[in-house]
Amino acid sequence: MSGMSFGVEVGEMVRANRANWDARTPVHVASEFYAVGRRDPRSWFAPFEWSDLGELAGRELAHLQCHIGAETIAFARQGARVTGLDFSAAAVVEARRIAAGEGSKIEYVEADVHDAVAHLGAGRFDVVYTGKGALCYLPDLPRWAATVVELLKPGGFVYIAEFHPLLNALGPKPGPGEGPELLLRHDYLEGRGAIERDATYTYTDGPALTSATVSYEWMHSLGEVVTTLVRAGLRIDSLTESELLPWPRWARMTRTGSGWWALPDGDPRVPLLYGLKASKPTA
Ligand SMILES: C[S@@+](CC[C@H](N)C(=O)[O-])C[C@H]1O[C@@H](n2cnc3c(N)ncnc32)[C@H](O)[C@@H]1O
Repeated sequence: MSGMSFGVEVGEMVRANRANWDARTPVHVASEFYAVGRRDPRSWFAPFEWSDLGELAGRELAHLQCHIGAETIAFARQGARVTGLDFSAAAVVEARRIAAGEGSKIEYVEADVHDAVAHLGAGRFDVVYTGKGALCYLPDLPRWAATVVELLKPGGFVYIAEFHPLLNALGPKPGPGEGPELLLRHDYLEGRGAIERDATYTYTDGPALTSATVSYEWMHSLGEVVTTLVRAGLRIDSLTESELLPWPRWARMTRTGSGWWALPDGDPRVPLLYGLKASKPTA
């Protein structure tokens, strides 16, 4: 694995993240949250994602930072030729087992996302998909964007469906003794370097982690993401900010017709997730 070509300090953080994801994986596989084999993989997608993604049948699609393949399987069911990539060996083993168990033909590759071109091939993909807890593990967005551009065929596009930086600024869930109010608790903007988290429990239900509890995240504002993609040579096709989440972040959120969750009508309407589509020019 790499991350090696970052400085020593960032390389150590990336290594800590990989160990943390290896430790989380068995908890996630056994969790009600992921409900492996019981939850419809399409339910991991916001309704607008499918119209943004368009027809996927026959398309060559890479899912970067795919974890145990909860979303990856949905792409295979749409008829795409799918490759999932993740640096967690444990996650890749489970993703392969889960896909095989349900007869989905998906190639899963264990690699750091920054080494994706060496592992997957340049100019190979019509669609590169990533998100829902992926960009926050990237210390150097321009470097990641250059990788994405290289993976894409001319005319191909990247689709990022990511938790909104505003949601991250509001905090992933209320702390002990905290109320449900929408309060800014963390930075919205990038620029303060890595945020160290030491969490015994992961975001799913299930037992405590017994090792590798420390992980590192980097904030990426919407402005940083858009500008980085444009500077890497991509054209922005659409940027959808949405009030929907795949799970109820606050207890008073209500389930919408799509199965996703939103704050009640009396609350301010704020973006909690975004979908960003950006294309690689043909010439
Ligand atoms: C929250 S998951 C995102 C996948 C999916 N949305 C989900 O929730 O299952 C984050 C994934 O990013 C992976 N990851 C983090 N940093 C990575 C890196 N540098 N290279 C490859 N994978 C990485 C982790 O191993 C983890 O599986």
